[in-house]
Amino acid sequence: MKKISKLSIIIIFAFLLSVSCKKEGIGIGPVESVELGEAIDDAKVEKGAATFKLKCTPCHKITVKHVGPVLKDVTTRRKPEWIMNMILNPEEMIAKDPTAKKLLLENNMMKMVRTGISQDEARDILELFRKVDEGKELPDYIKKLDETPKPPETAEQPAAEKK
Ligand code: HEC
Repeated sequence: MKKISKLSIIIIFAFLLSVSCKKEGIGIGPVESVELGEAIDDAKVEKGAATFKLKCTPCHKITVKHVGPVLKDVTTRRKPEWIMNMILNPEEMIAKDPTAKKLLLENNMMKMVRTGISQDEARDILELFRKVDEGKELPDYIKKLDETPKPPETAEQPAAEKK
């Protein structure tokens, strides 16, 4: 009897370990499967960066924490389908998906909002994330997504002349 329960504990533990090592689900939304090319499509990356700059930088930077989480390494912690569903269907994801619910708690209950972008635009942004996570030197237009533009009144003033 004792032996059996020990064995079952080991089996349960091994099972939990295998589950926790896998990336979690694909989320809830319009995207059920994504085809990823072997090589990164730089044309998509560029379009993705332009959309990201416009729609996402109010809340996200790539390597720095902003309102929302750091997005570097997001492709290693989430499935591509999950990432696109989070971008395209955030309300339902936050309400129902266990991972997105947890993120809400970790981000002071700040909510990701629907930005109204198309599925193609979300796919381009996914390509941008793949490019970032490739771990190679990033082009300037991607590095710039981490910059906060200076408001004009705090822009550097010419130093007062010394006498
Ligand atoms: C109003 C602020 C806001 C905007 C705009 C926004 N997000 Fe978010 N995002 C968040 C917050 C906050 C979270 C964390 C989950 C939550 O609490 O809703 C998040 C989570 C995410 C996640 C999951 C991160 C992880 O660690 O799994 C991804 C991916 C993401 N956002 C991508 C985007 C993209 C791409 C855009 C632009 C199309 C965007 N977000 C626009 C606030 C925002």
